[in-house]
Amino acid sequence: MHNAAFRELGIDSVYVPFRVPSRYLGSAVLGLRSQGVSGFNVTVPHKIEILKCLQRLDPLAQHIGAVNTVQNVNGKLVGYNTDATGAVEALRQNGASLGSSAFTILGAGGAARAIVFALARISRRIVVLNRTLERAQRLKQEVKRKAHRNIEIDQLTRKRLAKALLTTDVLVNATSIGMGGNPGCLPIEKTDLKRDLIVFDIVYGERETDLSRKARQVGCRTINGIEMLLHQGAEAFKIWTRRRAPIDSMRDALLAAMEARNDARC
Ligand code: ATR
Repeated sequence: MHNAAFRELGIDSVYVPFRVPSRYLGSAVLGLRSQGVSGFNVTVPHKIEILKCLQRLDPLAQHIGAVNTVQNVNGKLVGYNTDATGAVEALRQNGASLGSSAFTILGAGGAARAIVFALARISRRIVVLNRTLERAQRLKQEVKRKAHRNIEIDQLTRKRLAKALLTTDVLVNATSIGMGGNPGCLPIEKTDLKRDLIVFDIVYGERETDLSRKARQVGCRTINGIEMLLHQGAEAFKIWTRRRAPIDSMRDALLAAMEARNDARC
């Protein structure tokens, strides 16, 4: 999607993937810095470890404690978290009114943390449900300490989720169920969903997740995980180039790549 954006705007740049083993992260980053690259993304499993290699952090990335985008500013590396801003943008672009909505977030891992911290600055109500209650408790304490915001937490069970959904406007699945071969299943049935709910499943790579299918069948508005991937990319593009990202070309490129991948798997 970045190469499509560079082409469209006539920017003489290229985006290339490198596989970096954990033990070489420091030297890989030093190599990029000494070669003067404008910026780069960092993904699993380096999003936390990368913090040690950076000279400055954007405040949101500091709160989250994870970085996925790095900008090289005259040899100083600055870290951002565009997963967080990308998720919020995906919600905004797909009709969620952030300030007035009550959010229920499923999960308390890395992805959920990013979304909760991003929403903590803007949304009216946040409820976090997680399989392991202690992890949700730790997130609650951290959000209180760093963002001075109260969130509600509970354990992720069908009964508690169904109860939370009675007062929810936007449901976000930020667990890793369905991602990278995680075979779990969310404790939710169609009858727990109401039509005016917006359902955002951040899992991408599947044409439709189990949650999205149930939500669509009920008539809910659904947001695909691809939208978060797209908007985190658009935010990174803006940071690196100071230009508005050509979102439609980026989406086309991303969907074409996903289709090609799915076809190859069939
Ligand atoms: P990521 O960085 O992708 O968020 P993670 O930090 O490993 O990955 O977090 C995964 C999240 O998915 C966690 O909230 C995890 O719940 P636990 O904290 O209880 O582990 C949740 N998760 C993963 N598999 C699950 C399953 N089968 N049922 C319910 N929750 C699950």
